[in-house]
Amino acid sequence: MTSIPGALGLHHVGIVVDDLDAAMAQYALLGFQDPERFVMESQGIEAVTYRTGAGYVELIHPTDPEGPIARFLAKRGNTVHHMAMRVDDLEGTLARLAADGVRLIDASPRTGAHGWRIAFLHPESCNGVLIELVDDRQ
Ligand code: CO
Repeated sequence: MTSIPGALGLHHVGIVVDDLDAAMAQYALLGFQDPERFVMESQGIEAVTYRTGAGYVELIHPTDPEGPIARFLAKRGNTVHHMAMRVDDLEGTLARLAADGVRLIDASPRTGAHGWRIAFLHPESCNGVLIELVDDRQ
């Protein structure tokens, strides 16, 4: 039983960093291996993912100085940005959550890192935490 209908567990944790190279050096020191690094122009970010067990750690750095990640970084500094839950019916989960009165940021899925289909729930409905839903099946 999970709190989000259809959720299949934790998928990743997203962490905002001001210096991606420095953060990668730190994560290497912590033993994280095989980073996958890529730029996502549409979201104004550069990201690095590390697989860890069934899930991932996702480092996020803003490439758009006016974007939401840059604003988050200016306000909060290097810290956890969001947590993501794995789902296998993203549209259905979003519809059920909306029907239950959960505030959504994305009413319909968009494309995230690695081509994953993602959607965000509003922190107002999640005790102040930004929650992402991910369907990573290709
Ligand atoms: Co994410």
